Amino acid sequence: MVFLLAVVFLLVSTNGVESRKVRLIDSFEYSATNCRAHSASLTDFGGVGDGITSNTQAFQAAINHLSQFSSDGGSLLFVPPGKWLTGSFNVTSHFTLFLHKDAVLLGSQEENEWPVIEPLPSYGRGRDTEGGRFSSLIFGTNLTDVIITGDNGTIDGQGELWWQKFRAKQLLYTRPYLIEIMHSENIQISNLTLVNSPSWNIHPVYCSNVIVQGITILAPVTSPNTDGINPDSCTNTRIEDCYIVSGDDCIAVKSGWDEYGIAYGMPTKQLVIRRLTCISPFSAVIALGSEMSGGIQDVRAEDIVAINSESGVRIKTAVGRGGFVKDIYVRGFTMHTMKWAFWMTGNYGSHPDENYDPNALPVIENINYRDMVAENVTMAARLEGISGDPFTGVCISNVTIGLAKKPKKLQWNCTDVAGISSGVVPQPCALLPDQGPDKATTCEFPEETLPIESVQVQTCSYRSNVIVQGITILALVTSPNTDGINPALPFSIAKPEFMHVAQTPAQIPELRTVTLSPGTIV
Ligand SMILES: *[C@@H]1O[C@H](CO)[C@@H](O)[C@H](O)[C@H]1NC(C)=O
Ligand SMILES: *[C@@H]1O[C@H](CO)[C@@H](O)[C@H](O)[C@H]1NC(C)=O
Ligand SMILES: *[C@@H]1O[C@H](CO)[C@@H](O)[C@H](O)[C@H]1NC(C)=O
Ligand SMILES: *[C@@H]1O[C@H](CO)[C@@H](O)[C@H](O)[C@H]1NC(C)=O
Ligand SMILES: *[C@@H]1O[C@H](CO)[C@@H](O)[C@H](O)[C@H]1NC(C)=O
Ligand SMILES: *[C@@H]1O[C@H](CO)[C@@H](O)[C@H](O)[C@H]1NC(C)=O
Ligand SMILES: *[C@@H]1O[C@H](CO)[C@@H](O)[C@H](O)[C@H]1NC(C)=O
Repeated sequence: MVFLLAVVFLLVSTNGVESRKVRLIDSFEYSATNCRAHSASLTDFGGVGDGITSNTQAFQAAINHLSQFSSDGGSLLFVPPGKWLTGSFNVTSHFTLFLHKDAVLLGSQEENEWPVIEPLPSYGRGRDTEGGRFSSLIFGTNLTDVIITGDNGTIDGQGELWWQKFRAKQLLYTRPYLIEIMHSENIQISNLTLVNSPSWNIHPVYCSNVIVQGITILAPVTSPNTDGINPDSCTNTRIEDCYIVSGDDCIAVKSGWDEYGIAYGMPTKQLVIRRLTCISPFSAVIALGSEMSGGIQDVRAEDIVAINSESGVRIKTAVGRGGFVKDIYVRGFTMHTMKWAFWMTGNYGSHPDENYDPNALPVIENINYRDMVAENVTMAARLEGISGDPFTGVCISNVTIGLAKKPKKLQWNCTDVAGISSGVVPQPCALLPDQGPDKATTCEFPEETLPIESVQVQTCSYRSNVIVQGITILALVTSPNTDGINPALPFSIAKPEFMHVAQTPAQIPELRTVTLSPGTIV
């Protein structure tokens, strides 16, 4: 629970020297993997939250300033209530970006507010176009200990214009994401609402020790490529307590594309996904691929709710991808209104260019699904391996799939797959033979936990304490709006504009104590 509290003591004496002092204390608590010693507010750097003024420079100036504290206890940048229009900016190490619950970051619609950066080495090109890509709204590379959080503050990508330009093929570069952190470790992204991303929402790539927690992601279900969270060539990632409505996959696990991904050779592994609710009528709840050329291994997903989605877990791959998808464990999945409960696709196609290696076959093995209930499903499973390269070790147990009013005649269509099933309704295909009641199988789910599961968040308190001294404030008691001191929460730097000194002598209350709730102006 985050709260804001400010106590203002105003001690003023009109006749001079003794105890003229204003003491302002401001604090709230939040959960984070690391607390910070230094802080500032965006308004200290000229930020204007009117929804019109660009804050790109203010963000970058604030973060550049705060980066000096990287090796001195770290820093926090507070974004107060308001609408903060901004283009792309870069974060720094040992740094927390904190959005107040009424703070909205608005993604700029001017392309020149988004620098163009190199394509990812494991992709060889941008996802939308050849060549470069627009830097993400919040971008960081080669960092350690980055926290992007808030009291459920909002990041609004204002994606509509980007989607239009993308559909009209008017973009020269790949669309930006909302948050991308590259080549970094110890990342926390939590307690935020992300809406209308131009493309993917959260993209940790070449990272380790990543926690994504308590995130709401909302995009129109028809918006192009608005994937929720895409861990890409990352190790030790934990995604939990998220609610995602998306025009593409809610979670897409990736690791590079064809020959570029094979050459880069960096898998996504040790990934935990739990307590996710997903609505994705045209895509998957959890996709593995299609870019999986660096490999995907040891994914554990549990306590997932799917509503009105195309498929539950979907493996997407193709000849030319190489790489592997192995040791996948999923349990506790509830599905309402689905086209397919299970889907594996070996002919996804989609190559970065013509230079992919047709002999690079993906290895898909040890895929475990258990303890699932689904209702209103059109077709139970479409499992399509690759001819000469079957998907093996598929295990499905304790799954009950209730069918839609007009279900497909063929409920399980399996080609080039091998495995077993147990306690599955309706009856799976012959390639997944039922073990029978006396040999009932429970598909595997690892007992031991992953290192990222033991990373704890602590309670941090944000506190700024400003003493304003030696000020005499005089105004006619009947004069309108002659406020004495107007703190904008929070304030870590005493600024002269906090003081408004009137001309006319008058009485000032001797002591005033005020409790501020968020956004209150005294
Ligand atoms: C997110 O918010 C919830 C509810 O306010 C709180 O319990 C939790 O500790 C917060 N988590 C983080 C990581 O700030
Ligand atoms: C942000 O980081 C990228 C990659 O390092 C760099 O190209 C760009 O110039 C940086 N932007 C700013 C404003 O520092
Ligand atoms: C960032 O890290 C990557 C991977 O370790 C490295 O190849 C690259 O040179 C680093 N970039 C910078 C600017 O340090
Ligand atoms: C955060 O805000 C979103 C959008 O308003 C809302 O749907 C969600 O329930 C909120 N989350 C929390 C933890 O309050
Ligand atoms: C079942 O799914 C169909 C779409 O396939 C949908 O129109 C219908 O509302 C769903 N029924 C229920 C009870 O959810
Ligand atoms: C079967 O799955 C359900 C959840 O769908 C679970 O409650 C139940 O305990 C499972 N049964 C066994 C034998 O594991
Ligand atoms: C079953 O799947 C195969 C391979 O994808 C496809 O060619 C075939 O048309 C499917 N059959 C039915 C009845 O859907």
